[in-house]
Amino acid sequence: MVTTSENIYTFEQQQYIDSLKKGNYDFQWLKDERPTWGIRAKIKDPERGLTLQDANAAYAGEPEDAPKLRTMAPRGAVLGPDLPDMGYTLNEKYLVWAENVVPLYEEAVARQWSATRDIPWDELKPLPEDIERAQCQISTLLTEIEMIASDFPAKWLWQMNQHFHEVKMFLCTQAMDEARHLEVFRKRALANGGGLMHCLTGTEVFLRTILHAPTYIQGSFLMHVLGEGLVLDIFRGGEFLAQNKVEKEIYRLCMQDEARHVSYGTMHLKYFFEHHPDRETALAEMHTLADVAEMGIPGFLTNPFIVEPLAVLMGGGAKHIDRGMDAVRLIWGRMREEYLSRCELAGFDRRSRTQVPEQPPY
Ligand SMILES: [Fe+2]
Ligand SMILES: [Fe+2]
Repeated sequence: MVTTSENIYTFEQQQYIDSLKKGNYDFQWLKDERPTWGIRAKIKDPERGLTLQDANAAYAGEPEDAPKLRTMAPRGAVLGPDLPDMGYTLNEKYLVWAENVVPLYEEAVARQWSATRDIPWDELKPLPEDIERAQCQISTLLTEIEMIASDFPAKWLWQMNQHFHEVKMFLCTQAMDEARHLEVFRKRALANGGGLMHCLTGTEVFLRTILHAPTYIQGSFLMHVLGEGLVLDIFRGGEFLAQNKVEKEIYRLCMQDEARHVSYGTMHLKYFFEHHPDRETALAEMHTLADVAEMGIPGFLTNPFIVEPLAVLMGGGAKHIDRGMDAVRLIWGRMREEYLSRCELAGFDRRSRTQVPEQPPY
């Protein structure tokens, strides 16, 4: 079928074309009176530039807690008459928001780094085999688990109402951070004469629970508050795990990123409880989930493929694994304590209820 230029336009488009041919422009966009016209977002800190906080301080765009529309129209824009419904399912602020999400986004953008360029790979030196194996086992574990924190936000991202664009933007930075974490640990496993080691069923079962959590808040609690919290504690111990400048730098840079993810999740949980229409029910449901999920902490630290490589790295070799186990015992206590503190910060009292033992069973 031959299509002619006459029949590919709608009636309105054809009318506009006819009017253009006569030299008549529409200019509606130019005549439109905007009560907010004349906004000038001001830079607060010249060293940082024009931040999202500066833009929101000048004009946040009439934010609502429960926007009625399900469109991609930016907050504050003039809305067209028949904007399509995008099918968003997360349309209330308390379902996605955290009070720190705007500065976290700016920090994430400012602190992006490159696993190719910013790690001094050429300084890697051969290590004793037990230490190389231990580092490669931990690197394999991290290569395996990091991308859950890209996959999980990506699954929910499109379902979040664009009225809350700051949350979506932050989650995009998280997805990129985790791609880089996978990258840097895979590279480490392959860069120093070792290689990829074992994948663990227990960790994958936990990853599956996150990915298939029935609601965003449940998955966010499991991932941001619990899972990434444990990973953050590993990164915080990086200076004891690292055998050289390369590994120190890897753990240091990943720690910065991970701290943002955990911070968003903790503050999101707080916002969720504080603004939930039925706080008591929400708390009870989350307690039921946490009763089971937080047993992942002892699960994580009773897996020989995790405990022993950590102990070898912290003890300085398989011969000194007993010394390293003292450090693993400290990690146990720290993981439990930091997790309980994060819950406390979110107004979620797990301290009086948790079954995670204060002391490790070894
Ligand atoms: Fe990560
Ligand atoms: Fe993360």
